[in-house]
Amino acid sequence: MNSPNSNLPSPSDKRESVQTMFDRISGRYDLVNRIMTFRLDVRWRKRLVAEMDLAPQDLILDLACGTGDFAAQLNSTGFRSIGIDLSSGMLENASSDFVRVQGDLLELPIASETVDGCVCGFALRNLVELESFFTECARVLRPGGVLGVLEVSEPKSKILSTGHDLYFNKLVPKIGALLSDRSAYAYLPESVEYLPETKDIETLMTKSGFSKVRSIQLSGGIAQLLLGTRA
Ligand SMILES: C[S@@+](CC[C@H](N)C(=O)[O-])C[C@H]1O[C@@H](n2cnc3c(N)ncnc32)[C@H](O)[C@@H]1O
Repeated sequence: MNSPNSNLPSPSDKRESVQTMFDRISGRYDLVNRIMTFRLDVRWRKRLVAEMDLAPQDLILDLACGTGDFAAQLNSTGFRSIGIDLSSGMLENASSDFVRVQGDLLELPIASETVDGCVCGFALRNLVELESFFTECARVLRPGGVLGVLEVSEPKSKILSTGHDLYFNKLVPKIGALLSDRSAYAYLPESVEYLPETKDIETLMTKSGFSKVRSIQLSGGIAQLLLGTRA
């Protein structure tokens, strides 16, 4: 996950740089998110939870919960959730009341084999490395527990890809700069460089102890779900 883009933080600075950035943009994060995704993010989260086939009352970790969109959705639909995030600013700006802890996804403050599911929305690109993340998810999930990840993706179709490139790489940084923070919303499209190909993420999940690993492309391929069951 090294990047040739000089605007991106080096691996040794990444954790602190990401934490500071999210602290800085936390106050307007929800507003900008909804505008930028035309509320599609709400639909994507619902689809991920539906695909995970969870049981009522299951205990689900919302990893990199941010302001708690997944946690709020899980709590309102009969699941129990705990949110974990590095940024105190994001946790303090939560839009609903849910159990949350400040912590690092690469060293989860959770006992082994204690949760039924883990969800993680739009955070893979922000992590220093992915292997420890998937290993930690496998450690805290009970056997048979499910991991569901929501991430951005790049459409395969040429027409969609051109439109997406224009919107995500050119317009989103401008909207972000206008409503929130220039450098943070320039980082957003640039950070896609950190994201491995879907098939490589699937391989990593399998190696980390997940079976039935699969992915689903959403909205013409601008977002993706990755799912796996703790073997
Ligand atoms: C793009 S936001 C996504 C927030 C939320 N999941 C959502 O769907 O809106 C990424 C989040 O990842 C968190 N994050 C980044 N690195 C992290 C780490 N190593 N451990 C925990 N949280 C982290 C950031 O603080 C931020 O809240």
